[in-house]
Amino acid sequence: MITMKPSSCILSLCSRLVRTKTRKSDHFKMQMTFSCLYMEKHHFSYSMKSPKSTHHLIREMTEVSRDHLSPEIGLHLVTPNCPLWHSRGDQCPLPDPFWAFYWPGGQALTRFILDNADLFCGRTVVDVGCGCGASSIACRMVGASHVIANDIDTVAADAISLNADLNRVSLTTVTTNLIGSHNNRWDIVLLGDMFYDMEFAETITKWVISLHSHGVSVFIGDPGRLPLVQHPLKADLKMVAEYPLPENCLKENNGLSSGFVWKYEQEVI
Ligand SMILES: C[S@@+](CC[C@H](N)C(=O)[O-])C[C@H]1O[C@@H](n2cnc3c(N)ncnc32)[C@H](O)[C@@H]1O
Repeated sequence: MITMKPSSCILSLCSRLVRTKTRKSDHFKMQMTFSCLYMEKHHFSYSMKSPKSTHHLIREMTEVSRDHLSPEIGLHLVTPNCPLWHSRGDQCPLPDPFWAFYWPGGQALTRFILDNADLFCGRTVVDVGCGCGASSIACRMVGASHVIANDIDTVAADAISLNADLNRVSLTTVTTNLIGSHNNRWDIVLLGDMFYDMEFAETITKWVISLHSHGVSVFIGDPGRLPLVQHPLKADLKMVAEYPLPENCLKENNGLSSGFVWKYEQEVI
């Protein structure tokens, strides 16, 4: 089973929280006290593991945000207005909440889907590593016939269903690892910000090539992460869109400036 490597993704998630904390040192003690109480209060609820309590926790630790590249879509996200933003990564009551952030690669991919409805309308789409589910939601909004929102994090599946309800769309959520498999009914596979680790990039690349040989179109959203930029796969990618990242996203992602959408286009011989 391929799991997310903590090296870059979790560190970037944690550094986001730590960075904010040091900038706002005046409020830090107050925020920490609040956050600790918040965690103590909620840790038990999560250990109960009922979907209802997870939904409740997600609502409590996030706010609905449209402050991103696809404001048509409301998302339950951890923002600077949320106590959790100001606490340490290890204090989150839910494990590694990648779904609580809208990653720059996913933002670009979602914008592209909303702006190019004809490419997705009537298609069966699989959104792998969908996190908050924004790209999946966008596909349904533009008329995709069936959308599989896939993330191996079961809490992400709960967040996705909340976000789907919020935007009044229906999605199928799948939490098994689909990387390496394929299905004759898939038309399009989406990969939003999945090239965050060199080793994982190798695995995904093999799959992308295999999907393409089976006639599946693959779209990749990425903000210029090294595992993609430096990968030989890059030579077979055609850039189909570039979007400047919004101000808040720039602050969260030091050194990045744009989100790109790539389509795998190698000729099948
Ligand atoms: C950086 S986040 C990107 C989320 C979303 N696509 C976006 O751009 O906002 C990576 C996501 O991939 C998920 N993930 C990691 N390995 C996976 C796998 N083998 N299959 C499906 N999802 C996976 C994680 O749980 C996480 O939600």
